[in-house]
Amino acid sequence: MKKNILITGGAGFIGSHVVRLFVNKYPDYNIVNLDNLTYAGNLANIADIENAPNYTFVKGDIVDLAFINSLFEKHQFDSVIHLAAESHVDRSITHPLEFVMTNVVGTVNLLVAARNLWKGNMEGKLFYHVSTDEVYGSLHNPEDFFLETTPYDPQSPYSASKASSDHFVRAWHNTYKLPVVLSNCSNNYGPNQFPEKLLPLMINNIVNNKPLPVYGKGENVRDWLFVVDHARAIDDVFHQGKVGETYNIGGFNEWKNIDIVHLLCDTMDAKLGREPGTNRGLIKFVEDRAGHDLRYAIDATKIMNELGWKPSLQFEEGMNKTIDWYLANREWIEQITSGEYQKYYEGMYANKLS
Ligand code: NAD
Ligand code: DAU
Repeated sequence: MKKNILITGGAGFIGSHVVRLFVNKYPDYNIVNLDNLTYAGNLANIADIENAPNYTFVKGDIVDLAFINSLFEKHQFDSVIHLAAESHVDRSITHPLEFVMTNVVGTVNLLVAARNLWKGNMEGKLFYHVSTDEVYGSLHNPEDFFLETTPYDPQSPYSASKASSDHFVRAWHNTYKLPVVLSNCSNNYGPNQFPEKLLPLMINNIVNNKPLPVYGKGENVRDWLFVVDHARAIDDVFHQGKVGETYNIGGFNEWKNIDIVHLLCDTMDAKLGREPGTNRGLIKFVEDRAGHDLRYAIDATKIMNELGWKPSLQFEEGMNKTIDWYLANREWIEQITSGEYQKYYEGMYANKLS
C-alpha cells in the first residue's frame, strides 16, 4: 500500500529540500505539500518536481482547523512531517502574535486533525515535528553542548513559540498516545534560504556592494549545517527514529558571526574578481538584536550513533555551493527581494545603517 504523507512548509527553505528528497527517493509514497505561500514560501523552490506523479501541492493555512480536518479526511494521511512555521527571530521580535498563531496554534491544529483521523488505529502512523535548537536557550560555558536532555529555556518569541509547539507534540504523545517523533536542528544554510537570514543576506549585500550589518560585536556563535544534510537527517529520523524520541541534529561546526562573515567576504572577493579585502570594507557593526542568544552548539551524537546519520559535506564545500547557487540565481533573489521584502529590509535596517 502507498503511504500518504503530508509535508507542511514544503515551499520554504528546508521544506523544499525535504519535499524534493522524498518525491525523488520514494516513488511509492503519495506526497502532499501543504504551504500557505507566505513571504517565505516560493513555488520556484520546488519547480523541478511539480509534475511528479507522486506529488500534490495544496495552498492552505495550518491555522484554519476546519480546512486542516478536511484535508486529512480527503487524503487519509498516514504520516505528517511538519515544517511550516514563522522562522525568523527578528520578525518574531516585531510580530510575536504571528509566531504564536502559526507555530503554536497551527501545530496544535495538525495534532488535533491527526488524532481525529487516527484515533481508531494508531498502528503505522507518525507525526514528525521538525524543531530547532533555539528551544534550549543560550550557552555561556564554552564546554557545553545542547543534548536531547537539556532543559528548555527559550529566549526569543520565535524560540518560545517553537518550544511551546514541541511541548504540545509531546503532550499529544503522552495523553493520547499519538505516535510522534521530534528533531531539533542547528542553523541551516544552502540554496533557497530567504535573504533575511544571515548568510544569504550577506551574500546578496556583497553582490550589490551594500553594507553588511553585523549585530553587536559579531561574537555570537552558531553551529552551521548544510540544508541537504538536514533533509537527509529528517529522512533517517522519519524512517528509523523511535516513536516518542527526540533527535538533535547539527554539524559540530561552530562559527562566530564575524568569522563567518569574513570568510564570505574573502571567498566572494575571489569569486567576483575584487581586490582582496574589498568586501570586508562593507562590514558595519550595528545595534545588537534584542535578547540575542550568545551561542548555540548541538551535540549530535545520538542521531549519529543510533541512526547512522552524519553530515556529508565539508563546510568549505557547502559554502562554495551556496555562494555559487546565489550567484547563479540572481533572478530568484531579485523576485523575492522586490516589493514586500524591500519594505521589511528598510524598516529593519534603516536606523541601524544610517
Ligand atoms: P521558512 O521560513 O523558509 O519556510 C517556512 C514555510 O512555512 C514557508 O514556505 C511558509 O510559506 C510556510 N508557512 C508559514 N506559515 C504557514 C501557515 N500558517 N500555513 C501553512 N504554511 C505556512 O522556514 P525554514 O527555515 O525552512 O524552517 C522550516 C522549519 O524548520 C521550521 O519549523 C523551523 O522552525 C525549523 N528549523 C529551521 C532552521 C533554520 O536554520 N532555518 C533550523 C532548525 C529548525
Ligand atoms: O538555530 C536554528 C535557528 O537558526 C532556526 O531555528 C531559525 O529558524 C533560523 O532563522 C536561525 O536563527 P538565527 O537567529 O540563529 O539565524 P539568523 O540567520 O537570523 O542569524 C544568525 C546570526 O547572525 C545571529 O547571531 C544573528 C546574526 N545576524 C543576523 C542577521 C540577519 C547579524 O549579525 N546580522 C544580520 O543582519
